[in-house]
Amino acid sequence: MLTISNISKSFPGVRALDDVSVDFKNGEIHALLGENGAGKSTLMKIIGGVYKPDTGKMFFDEKELVLNSYIDALSKEISMVNQELQVLPSFSVAENIMLDKMITFRKTPILNWKEINLVAKKYLDMVDLDVPPTKLIGELSVAQKQMIEIAKSLASKSKILLLDEPTSAISETEAEKLFDILRDLKKKGIIILFVTHKLEEVFKICDKVTVLRDGRKIDTKMINEVEKQDLVKMMIGREEKIESFRNKNIDKSILTMEVKNIVKYKKCEDVSFKLYKGEVLGFYGLVGSGRTELARLIIGEDKKQSGDVLINGKKIKIRSIADGLYKYRIGYVTENRKEEGLLLNSTILNNIGITIWPKIAGRIFRFINGQKERKHAKKMVQQLDIKATSINQLVQKLSGGNQQKVSIAKWLGADCDIIIFDEPTIGVDIGAKEYIHKLIFDLANVQGKSIILISSDMPEIIKLANRIYVFRDKKIIGEIEEVNKDEDSYNIVSKELGNYYT
Ligand SMILES: Nc1ncnc2c1ncn2[C@@H]1O[C@H](COP(=O)(O)OP(=O)(O)OP(=O)(O)O)[C@@H](O)[C@H]1O
Ligand SMILES: [Mg+2]
Repeated sequence: MLTISNISKSFPGVRALDDVSVDFKNGEIHALLGENGAGKSTLMKIIGGVYKPDTGKMFFDEKELVLNSYIDALSKEISMVNQELQVLPSFSVAENIMLDKMITFRKTPILNWKEINLVAKKYLDMVDLDVPPTKLIGELSVAQKQMIEIAKSLASKSKILLLDEPTSAISETEAEKLFDILRDLKKKGIIILFVTHKLEEVFKICDKVTVLRDGRKIDTKMINEVEKQDLVKMMIGREEKIESFRNKNIDKSILTMEVKNIVKYKKCEDVSFKLYKGEVLGFYGLVGSGRTELARLIIGEDKKQSGDVLINGKKIKIRSIADGLYKYRIGYVTENRKEEGLLLNSTILNNIGITIWPKIAGRIFRFINGQKERKHAKKMVQQLDIKATSINQLVQKLSGGNQQKVSIAKWLGADCDIIIFDEPTIGVDIGAKEYIHKLIFDLANVQGKSIILISSDMPEIIKLANRIYVFRDKKIIGEIEEVNKDEDSYNIVSKELGNYYT
C-alpha cells in the first residue's frame, strides 16, 4: 500500500497542495479528479520523484518513501506517464521507449541496438502501435506520441504506475486498448493512479476516486458509491449546466468558405465541402481520420497537391496561420497546443494579445494599445477561470488545462470571420468546457461567424454542430444535416454517427 500523509507543496504565489492525505491500495485503479489547477499533476509529480513536498511524508508498504529524483523513483519501480509528453523528438521510437530502462538498468556499456529495437517492438505490439522502432519520434502524430509514452511506462517495471491524462490525445479504440492493459496490471497488484477529465473513463475502469479542489482533498470515495453529478459537484462546487444550443442564425445564402477537391498524398483524398455564414460545421471522426490534416492544408501550414479554397466566392492562397489571420480573417486553434499554439516562455498577456493586435492597433500609427490589450486579457482570464497569479505569469508555469484555456482565449478574441477549432476542450475541466461551448455557440449564432468544429467528443459535436461531416481514412464518408433540430436529435444523430463506424 502507498500512503501519502499531510503533503503540502507551494510554488511562488500558489499553494498547489494543501495537507493532502490518501491511501492507495495494491491492485487498485485510483482516479484523481479536479478542476484545472487543482493540484493533480503536482501530486503525481511528488509521487513520481519530480518534486519534493514542502511538508508531509509518503510510505510504501509501511516503509517511509523518500525520493530524490525521477530516476530515483524509477529505480524504486514507480513510473509515470506525464501530461506534458516527455518524448525526445530527435530520438527514435525504440530509444524513447527504452530510455528509462537504460538509465536504471545500465548494466553493459555496449548497447545492442538489434536487441533494443526488438524489445521496443514488444511494447509497441502491447499497445497495438504499428510504427517501426527506428522511426524518429518527431515524425509521429500527437496520438502516436502519447501511445509511445504509455509503452515507455509499461517497459519500466513498476509497482506504482502514474498516468496523468494518458487518454487526452488518443481515440476511444486506443483508450480501450490501454484499459485492457491496465486491468491486467491491476490483477498483478500494481497500484495505478489515473488522472482524467473524462468522467466516463472513471466509471469504466477505476475502483476509487479522490477529488481535489484548490490543492485540498475534498473526499475519497468508492466508485460504486457515487454518481457523475456527485463528482461534478465535488469538483466545481455546483451542478453541471446542461444547455441545449439551437442555432437559428445560419444564412445559407452566404457561402463563407468552399473547399473543392483538396488532395494530398496519404493525408487528404479529394475532400470538398461548404461552410455557410453563422454555421457551426462539425468534423467528426476518429483520431487520425484526416480532419487535422485537412485543416492544416486549408490554412496553409501544409502544401496541398491540388484543389482550391474559396472565401466569399474568391479563390485564395493562404501561406501560414499568420497569413490566414491577417489577410483572410481565418483562425485556427490547433489541437497541438503545447507545440504549436502557445509561446510557453511568454506571459499570458502576450499569448492572448497576439491575435487581437491588428484589431487594437491604431489605424494610422500601428502601435499596440497596451491598456486595451491588458483589459482584454484580464477579461478572458476571468471568464475562462484561468488559474494564474496574474496576467504577467509565464504560460509554462500554468497547469496543463490552464495552458489550453489560454490557447483558446487567444482565438476567441481574434476578429476572424472563420474559426477552425481543433479538439477545443481536450484537457479542460467541466466548468470551462461548458463555458467554451457557450462561447463557440455565440460566435456563430450571435456574431454570425462561421465555425468548423473538429471533435472526437460525440456529445460535444452533437450539441454544437448544425451539420456534421463524418471522416474516415482521410476522406469525407458522410454528411448529417439539421443536427440539433430538437430534443430527440441526440439519440438519432449519435446512432447515425455510430453506424459509420461499424
Ligand atoms: N512549476 C510550477 N511553477 C509555478 N506554479 C506551478 C508549477 N507547477 C504547477 N504550478 C501551479 O500549481 C497549481 C496546481 O497545478 P497542477 O499542474 O498540479 O494542476 P492540475 O490539477 O494538474 O491541473 P490540469 O487539470 O490543468 O492539468 C496551479 O495553480 C499551477 O499554476
Ligand atoms: Mg495536470
